[in-house]
Amino acid sequence: MKGIILAGGTGTRLYPITQGISKQLMPIYDKPMIYYPLSTLIQAGISDILIITTPEDQGAFRRLLGDGSQFGIRLAYAVQQRPEGLAQAFIIGADFIGDSSVALALGDNIFHGSQFSASLGQCRDPQGGIVFAYEVSDPSRYGVVAFDESGQALSIVEKPQQPQSNFAVVGLYFYDNSVVDIARTITPSTRGELEITSVNEAYLRRGKLQVQKLARGDVWLDTGTFDSMSEASSYVEVLQKRTGIIIGSPEAAAYQS
Ligand code: DAU
Repeated sequence: MKGIILAGGTGTRLYPITQGISKQLMPIYDKPMIYYPLSTLIQAGISDILIITTPEDQGAFRRLLGDGSQFGIRLAYAVQQRPEGLAQAFIIGADFIGDSSVALALGDNIFHGSQFSASLGQCRDPQGGIVFAYEVSDPSRYGVVAFDESGQALSIVEKPQQPQSNFAVVGLYFYDNSVVDIARTITPSTRGELEITSVNEAYLRRGKLQVQKLARGDVWLDTGTFDSMSEASSYVEVLQKRTGIIIGSPEAAAYQS
């Protein structure tokens, strides 16, 4: 399985800082933000990873991460000219993906938890798509999945005004190779983006989308705002100091996987 980290976008919610630096290079406590999704992909056993950035920021990511050999992985780089949607990652990355399955991690999403880490290993050969749902208090900010009584996913809607559930779809997605064709056939949303939610809906219609609820005790943080960055930094600081275990370390993830 190949991996992609999407680390472009404009970061408008973090202006003026992101006019000078990429959001995903900003610190979450003692590491650059991108270390966290990178560690997640390494934990999932993925060692071929494509980093997609804006044209302006690619040099900085290369300086930080190089070819990945220091983590025992292989890193490649590609550019997204404009932020035209998360699903564009599969079109930009089509040659890199080849005939493999692929995991997409958003560059500003942080995951932590023992059950979560254990479940990652089971996502490496998806027959369709595998996504994760996390209960939140403000679902309208996210892709929202509704379930029937048996726990089967019924619908997925991007940023609904009237959410059908409190379950957000988090920024880590595992797909079989047909995701490349699906991404090429979906059309832009009203906000002009190729939505990852449209990809998930396509899998859902085919009866090939598995939605796993993250366990209680697993933590998901989307670090797209100053408040959420500050909360994530505090979380990492407290846990690291109390437990002595480093969170979001590609070296540690590589050593353990
Ligand atoms: O965080 C989970 C949510 O991520 C999901 O629940 C939503 O379904 C999904 O659409 C996405 O929503 P966001 O509004 O949080 O996405 P955002 O536009 O903030 O982009 C997420 C990251 O991807 C961010 O770090 C910027 C980067 N990005 C975004 C776009 C649209 C790119 O690199 N290229 C892009 O074209």
